[in-house]
Amino acid sequence: MPRALITGITGQDGSYLAELLLSLGYEVHGLVRRVALEDARHRLSRLEGIRDRITLHSGSLESFASLYRAVQIIQPDEVYHLAAQSFVSYSFEDSFSTFRSNIDGTHFVLESVRQAAPHCKVYFAGSSEMFGNAPETPQNEQTRFCPRSPYGISKLTGYELSRNYREAYGMFVCSGILFNHESPRRGYEFVTRKITSHVARIKQGQIRDLPLGNLEARRDWGFAGDFVRAMHMMLQQPTPQDYVVATGQSHTVQEFCELAFSHVGLNWENHVIVDPNFYRPAEVFELTGDSTKARRELGWQPDVDFAGLVRMMVDADMEDGLRASGFGLRRE
Ligand code: GDD
Repeated sequence: MPRALITGITGQDGSYLAELLLSLGYEVHGLVRRVALEDARHRLSRLEGIRDRITLHSGSLESFASLYRAVQIIQPDEVYHLAAQSFVSYSFEDSFSTFRSNIDGTHFVLESVRQAAPHCKVYFAGSSEMFGNAPETPQNEQTRFCPRSPYGISKLTGYELSRNYREAYGMFVCSGILFNHESPRRGYEFVTRKITSHVARIKQGQIRDLPLGNLEARRDWGFAGDFVRAMHMMLQQPTPQDYVVATGQSHTVQEFCELAFSHVGLNWENHVIVDPNFYRPAEVFELTGDSTKARRELGWQPDVDFAGLVRMMVDADMEDGLRASGFGLRRE
């Protein structure tokens, strides 16, 4: 039975990936912060359905010793390094801690594997934010990186570290350059979930408005459940390589709003307020991915399209709202 260690297992991607690996017969281990183990109800909520089938270890991206210990004890065949400070806006507020978690944390994981389990394969969660304001659209593996945020810089450094460990030590390390991927498990600070959770609360009469920043920003949004399949596929290839993973279709924040509001019979223009507080010091205006290589070499393709994703997220937030208010229970 293959053994996997997932850092960031409590997050959106970590939880989907853990479910996928369990379904493929893996023994799944996760690294979580000690505080998460102490506040399991909230912090492990995404793992609810699989909690008794995975093994959690306490550790932190800030501690080489804890990562080394976990790798040494578990002796994984595959490590999926997903843990990071992943909110771009926050990286402008505290670039120092973003660099510590995302750069040192990645370095610690790679070095732990090199020392304690050198034959283990490693997946590094790169990001389309590394492209920033890229000189071409769509972006592929050859596109020049031009990050526009401390987050993008930190991911680019993690990507270069991964490449260097692959080349210098012959390790099997792949970076996935994933474009935005969303789901009902997305954190509320990201724009898609912020929109769908507000739409549900507006529809249910709890609030009136949705304050947003740049409505013109354009992203290539896919479904996280589709994207974690690509992570696993990369580590099953004969040689370690980096891959862009994206739907190839991009839409503006405004288009996301239009679809989300209209799905529950509302007009976005009556509720969305542009609030300059949500603008970023430096914006990435457009990201659209060209995942030809992943489609050709991995045989990967997404199942959920943009409209399906928006509907899935709005429906889940509507359901959550009804359950919280007791309507769902009464209807059952
Ligand atoms: N969060 C947020 N909140 N974003 C807003 C808002 C708002 O109120 N209003 C407009 N936006 C715009 C942002 O300026 C950005 O252009 C776009 O919506 C998407 O923002 P996020 O959902 O926060 O995601 P992101 O694109 O910055 O980063 C996400 O995707 C990356 C992959 O490209 C994150 O998941 C990163 O961790 C990931 O690497």
